[in-house]
Amino acid sequence: MKDFAGKIAFITGGASGAGFGQAQIFSEAGMKVVIADLRQDHLDEAMAYFKEKDAPVHPIRLDVTDREAFAAAADEVEEVFGATPDLLILTAGVNVFGPAEASTYDDYDWVVGVNFGGVVNGLVTFVPRMIKANKGGHIAATVSWAAFNPGPNTAPYNAAKAAVLNLMESYFVALKPYGIGVSALCPANIKSRIYEAAIKNRPDHLKNTGYNVNEETQKFLASFHRYGMEPRDLALWLKKGIENEQFLIVPYPSGVRMVELAVRRFVDYASPEGMKRLEERQKQPPTEEELQHIAEREGYDPRTGPRMMENTVGFGKARKDLDWVDPNKKAK
Ligand SMILES: NC(=O)c1ccc[n+]([C@@H]2O[C@H](COP(=O)([O-])OP(=O)(O)OC[C@H]3O[C@@H](n4cnc5c(N)ncnc54)[C@H](O)[C@@H]3O)[C@@H](O)[C@H]2O)c1
Repeated sequence: MKDFAGKIAFITGGASGAGFGQAQIFSEAGMKVVIADLRQDHLDEAMAYFKEKDAPVHPIRLDVTDREAFAAAADEVEEVFGATPDLLILTAGVNVFGPAEASTYDDYDWVVGVNFGGVVNGLVTFVPRMIKANKGGHIAATVSWAAFNPGPNTAPYNAAKAAVLNLMESYFVALKPYGIGVSALCPANIKSRIYEAAIKNRPDHLKNTGYNVNEETQKFLASFHRYGMEPRDLALWLKKGIENEQFLIVPYPSGVRMVELAVRRFVDYASPEGMKRLEERQKQPPTEEELQHIAEREGYDPRTGPRMMENTVGFGKARKDLDWVDPNKKAK
């Protein structure tokens, strides 16, 4: 997809962070934009911005895990802008962190439900409509660099993102004959408000977390996201990727090399010699190149910046009463 002007975009999570950046960039490219978001306060704030610009942007309050509401939102776009979206961007997401072995069913049901289930619901709602509209188009998901890595302290999140990456690749192949492009955007640190999610966006019926989550841990996360990529810059990487019909968008100058290094471990896992190689490599300090990659992804020098898992507020720890979790066996 190369021309955006006059076309329609539908963006989940479009009222904050990465999604709001995407709404701005595609609105500036001349699109009519729907921002669909769980949070009314985020929608109000975003709409104040777009009203000032007099841009054709329409807000819809939507929980991406609610399938009926998703179908109603798709109907609403057609009523408001007169057609099915040409560009669907599935960005809504949440996170909460702690040791994998402390995870509860609620941690999985919430994190996987929004991050993976929300993408599934977006695809099942819109793909048939986009095909029937017979005008091509593009579908993108805001995945994460997490999709390429295991997450001993972020297991539900990383698993959901890996699943989204694989799912989008299936649709990339499936939708090509219909002239619908598909992309997976895989950023690491973004300047956003995702740190609020575990406290503010988590529904009451899924509140039983196994992790240590409180205002202090969320404040720590906020301090980390300060260094993240500007959402507008990230959206420009996405726009360029869509223009190039590129499936995988790793939004860094060294993005291609990062992928090459990240998938190397699968080759190693697949043989006894490889396992030894991997173990040896893990004993070594990070190379200059790896440090440079971390700096690109996180937005700070890893030798001097904040340490994700080793802070004093207990980010990445289990809930105190889970006595089978041994802090001395903490994975790095
Ligand atoms: N922040 C990062 O460092 C980072 C890194 C990689 C990937 N991501 C991904 O980027 C995407 C956007 O997150 P962000 O960092 O911009 O966070 P954000 O919290 O600033 O924005 C996410 C938006 O999604 C909305 N949302 C949450 N749950 C929802 C639901 N059930 N239904 C509809 N909307 C919902 C929130 O209200 C919020 O407005 C997510 O998928 C996230 O996993 C974020």
